Amino acid sequence: MIFQMARRAERMNPSVIREILKVTEQPGIISLAGGLPSPDTFPVEAMRAASEKVLRDTPREALQYAASEGYAPLREWVAAHLAAQGLQVDATQVLITTGSQQGLDLVGKVLIDAGSGVAVERPTYLGALQAFAPYEPEVVSVDCDDDGPLPAGLSVARGARFLYLLPNFQNPSGRCMSAPRRAQVSDAARALGLPIVEDNPYGDLWFDHEPPPPLAARWPEGTVYLGSFSKVLAPGLRLGYVVAPPALCPKLLQAKQAADLHTPGFNQRVVHEVIRNGFLNEHVPTIRARYQAQRDAMRAALERHMPAGCHWNVPVGGMFFWVELPEGTDATALLPHAVKQGMAFVPGAAFFADHAKANTLRLSFVTVAPDEIERGIRMLALALQEQHA
Ligand SMILES: Cc1ncc(COP(=O)(O)O)c(C=O)c1O
Repeated sequence: MIFQMARRAERMNPSVIREILKVTEQPGIISLAGGLPSPDTFPVEAMRAASEKVLRDTPREALQYAASEGYAPLREWVAAHLAAQGLQVDATQVLITTGSQQGLDLVGKVLIDAGSGVAVERPTYLGALQAFAPYEPEVVSVDCDDDGPLPAGLSVARGARFLYLLPNFQNPSGRCMSAPRRAQVSDAARALGLPIVEDNPYGDLWFDHEPPPPLAARWPEGTVYLGSFSKVLAPGLRLGYVVAPPALCPKLLQAKQAADLHTPGFNQRVVHEVIRNGFLNEHVPTIRARYQAQRDAMRAALERHMPAGCHWNVPVGGMFFWVELPEGTDATALLPHAVKQGMAFVPGAAFFADHAKANTLRLSFVTVAPDEIERGIRMLALALQEQHA
């Protein structure tokens, strides 16, 4: 080939999930694999009305190049929204990004040198591993239990540039860190001089109780916080945000300018128009109720069909169940059997930076109707039987 690849390009891999999704998009497959929100929750009418208003009232501004920091009223909305969750920040600390995925890339660009340490949970969000990989970090995994990272396990992260954490309804494990664990982890990180990158796209999707305040509230000067509109409005908008300590903001902004100049101004204005008068207070509870019913359907189906030796968490928010199959079972090898039965899941191995647990898998409960969930889980159990036959 005429082109010589950069070292960072060699480190890029196709997303395992996107590859699996290609298979699962075959007609007739019940896919519990995707990480997509339910399209039934997208507020189409509100978006249509807001789009028309923005185009009628401010078409020239909305369609023009805009500030790299983001649309000022939306930044202010984000600061007020976070204050309600216990995180006091100034709107000038809010950078509106093209999805929180871009926030992860910008954080990587600004904080990681080749060979520098980055600590993650075991398991962690695959998309973050992908975002950081081109910057060539040495990734270390912190041991976790059902309540998140073990504070004593943080010592492996000593000297790392940051610790990447998902305290609310983690993708993939579904777990939510308790308030005491948040305090312990934040304090242990602080004692180590280890900054935290806190990623929170699912925090609003709680079922019974609001999750405890963000880690950033406990240690604001040492924590970068990422949020998203993808799961409460629609991911196609590509709207997220990074909130950083003031010392970091100029560099994140410069990285953003180099990447894409700014996040689409039209989308920001439309979203601000939709949410500015409390729309989310009405809308998000409808998503929670829907997802909770779906969670209940999957829980019942797992209890009914899965054989002895399988374990799962019961998520109290978010979109995912995390299943541990009997020791010695390989979920990647199980997938073709499951697809033959007519369902799909994501093997858990992709979510580990190291020492992957081959007997794990992730199931999404939000996009498939309850009766299909029931059928899908029955097929999963049959695939397990077939694999062991
Ligand atoms: C943990 C986590 N972080 C970030 C993202 C990216 O979200 P966004 O649509 O805001 O880019 C996702 C998407 O699924 C996610 O699960």
